[in-house]
Amino acid sequence: MNYWTVIPAAGQGKRMNAGISKQWIELLGKPVLAHTLDVFEKDPLCEGVILVGSKQELKQMQQFVQTFQYTKVHQIVPGGKERQQSVYEGLKKVTKDADLVLIHDAARPFITHDSIQQLVARAADSGSAVLAVPVKDTVKKVVQDHVEETIDRSSLWAVQTPQAFRLSIVMKAHEKADKEGYVGTDDASLVERIGETVAIVMGDYHNIKLTTSDDLLFGQAILLDRQG
Ligand code: CTP
Ligand code: MG
Repeated sequence: MNYWTVIPAAGQGKRMNAGISKQWIELLGKPVLAHTLDVFEKDPLCEGVILVGSKQELKQMQQFVQTFQYTKVHQIVPGGKERQQSVYEGLKKVTKDADLVLIHDAARPFITHDSIQQLVARAADSGSAVLAVPVKDTVKKVVQDHVEETIDRSSLWAVQTPQAFRLSIVMKAHEKADKEGYVGTDDASLVERIGETVAIVMGDYHNIKLTTSDDLLFGQAILLDRQG
């Protein structure tokens, strides 16, 4: 099934503390945003991309898309203060007759075609699906400086992007959250709030989000490993 993709790239990368936002950081000589966009540009199932950038970076982003000749980027739109607002702005620009929409963070450049294919197949069936991996660490609930509870790990999954939804479902979820001033930590949590079931698709531990500078080290290792 064909899909559209919304790519939020309007954050400031405060935790990375690199002096530039994360999508411009180069990994093996190529900006993070190029690593991410290349995957969707090359995927025949992807019909169009809406890129969301911060107001101050829109010109830079337009130039970047021209230089790299990304033919699937239909629009570059200004984002909001929070990621959720940026995604909502992007969703509004997706063509109304799209069946599925994938929402994928610009800062997660190691997504593979294989994962996308599995995610899309599941979402086409169930309406909503996310990539996730089982949590490997033991997780404890901490109060001040001591453990309150050790949480049963067997049902805990770390959720990634892309997250895939039927356009009508995710629009309804974002509209409701926007109206009610609800802010969730991902798009699926908004969809859960309107009573939809979100399917879990086994992701890949290499599909990391670049958040702090340690992640750049892992990221380079992942790319070098892929080069063989
Ligand atoms: N994002 C966005 N609009 C925002 C905030 C974030 O489009 N107002 C995007 C980021 O550009 C990133 C993705 O959402 O691709 C995931 O967010 P995160 O990892 O938190 O990135 P930043 O917000 O840039 O980083 P930080 O929270 O450390 O400032
Ligand atoms: Mg952020």
